[in-house]
Amino acid sequence: MVGPQPYYITTPIYYVNDAPHIGHAYTTLACDVLARFMRLDGRRVKFLTGTDEHGQKVEKSAQAAGMDPQAFTDKVSLNFRDLAKTLNFSNDDFIRTTEERHVRACQALWTRLKEAGEIYLGSYAGWYAVRDEAFYDESELRDGPGGKKIAPSGAEVEWVEEPSYFFRLSAWQERLLAFYEQNPGFIGPASRRNEVISFVRSGLRDLSVSRTTFRWGIPVPNDPDHIMYVWLDALTNYITAVGYPDTENKDYSTFWPADLHMVGKDILRFHAIFWPAFLMAAGLQPPKRVFAHGWWTNEGQKISKSVGNVIDPVVLADEYGLDQIRYFLLREVPFGNDGDFSRTAAINRINSDLANDFGNLAQRVLSMIHKNCEAAVPRPNALKAADEALLTAARELFDRLRADFGEQAFHRGLEAAWQVVGDANRYVDEQAPWTLRKTDPARMNTVLYTLAETIRHLAILTQPVMPESCARLLDQLAVAPEGRTFASLGPDGALAPGTALPKPEPIFPRYIKPEDDDSQKTGR
Ligand code: ME8
Ligand code: MG
Repeated sequence: MVGPQPYYITTPIYYVNDAPHIGHAYTTLACDVLARFMRLDGRRVKFLTGTDEHGQKVEKSAQAAGMDPQAFTDKVSLNFRDLAKTLNFSNDDFIRTTEERHVRACQALWTRLKEAGEIYLGSYAGWYAVRDEAFYDESELRDGPGGKKIAPSGAEVEWVEEPSYFFRLSAWQERLLAFYEQNPGFIGPASRRNEVISFVRSGLRDLSVSRTTFRWGIPVPNDPDHIMYVWLDALTNYITAVGYPDTENKDYSTFWPADLHMVGKDILRFHAIFWPAFLMAAGLQPPKRVFAHGWWTNEGQKISKSVGNVIDPVVLADEYGLDQIRYFLLREVPFGNDGDFSRTAAINRINSDLANDFGNLAQRVLSMIHKNCEAAVPRPNALKAADEALLTAARELFDRLRADFGEQAFHRGLEAAWQVVGDANRYVDEQAPWTLRKTDPARMNTVLYTLAETIRHLAILTQPVMPESCARLLDQLAVAPEGRTFASLGPDGALAPGTALPKPEPIFPRYIKPEDDDSQKTGR
């Protein structure tokens, strides 16, 4: 029996040493939009996010907070869980690497790699960056202040010498290159794919996968002096969540391999090189795709705790509106590129695209219907070419969005949607329904119906990005809950003339800077 096509999407699991900031929110938002899009498109979705709780970096943060690491991670992990609720993320599961199910999965994967001869015992002497939880080669480093060595990421490295297990990564070079060749869609965007391929071509060394000099991690089976390298532990979360090591279970067979691991560009190497190598070495299938998005700066500056310019996504949502920020983040910057958060850019998008263009369109049309069509969906008469053109543009949008969102090009999909918004606004001006009211009421009904249908399409299609606002707009069009999926797009789900409509309320208010808000100015 063929059921709905599954879709498994994951965010990175976030280190709990940090409070959630705009970067975390951005990655999870992109996944949320895809998860919602696929659900509306009839797919059976599993959307996973969670927290990465082991390793030296988290252990140090716990120490700095004067807490036991478990109690510390219990506390900080909640911030990420709460963020998901506040930002209306629709994840189906939330994984923590300190959970029992995850410890079991990691130890099973380790045992399998060990038995396959892919892991051997040796000793490591080299550079390690706790901030990145990553090993670096001497040749990658530069000299920093105070005689310190600095990794390409900007993190300080320290010299480490200890007994260690190694994964035979060097033996995977050719097989990885063949895998990239056979799966051209494995890494997105294309520029990142080329970077990964040239890195692998330049040669891979065996990877140290255990540590003995601190304790906060998952013990290596049969050699508990060693704890697993935090990245081996962390990456495994993606299969833990589908029930590994039980590969016969329903979740695993339905959802693995994952359709998409969404990551920031900083952690692409781990996902596009180590992870498929670990999986193939264990006889498991690699994921279908890894997409690396870019980084946000704040008003042109790199975001960092020491600079003190970290952007709290909850504060942003409070100030500008949650759906407004969701829209801005995905519309403003071509997904995959770096982007700059600026107050001016956010306000421009919110006021022009949302308040003026989409919001006014809806409010104008719905108010005219309310006043002139007895507050019910008007009955259209014979369509003219201009009506057909607008409806066709609205109906063709779905295929565009499917293609664009399918390759994580959110900005392009949204741009296409706003072209239809623009078409609809021009159509209102050209058709001038307010004049038709007196001269040709039958024609006015056709025009308003055409517009209402266009708005219905736009509202259904942009739900993944702006779930609450679109739900309110669909309420105003009296679209039943079961009529809001993509199956209801097109003529079959068209608005039924005569359906009573509630009194319209504006959906997208203009953002008024507090300093320009006259109603707030008193006693001057
Ligand atoms: O790397 N702009 O966790 P992490 C955009 N635990 N995105 C940003 C950003 C910025 N300025 N800053 C952070 C880890 N991000 C590991 C992952 S996965 C098996 C383990 C986002 O808490 C971006 O997605 O450092 C980046 O990849 C992620 O936060 C890193 O989160
Ligand atoms: Mg990080």
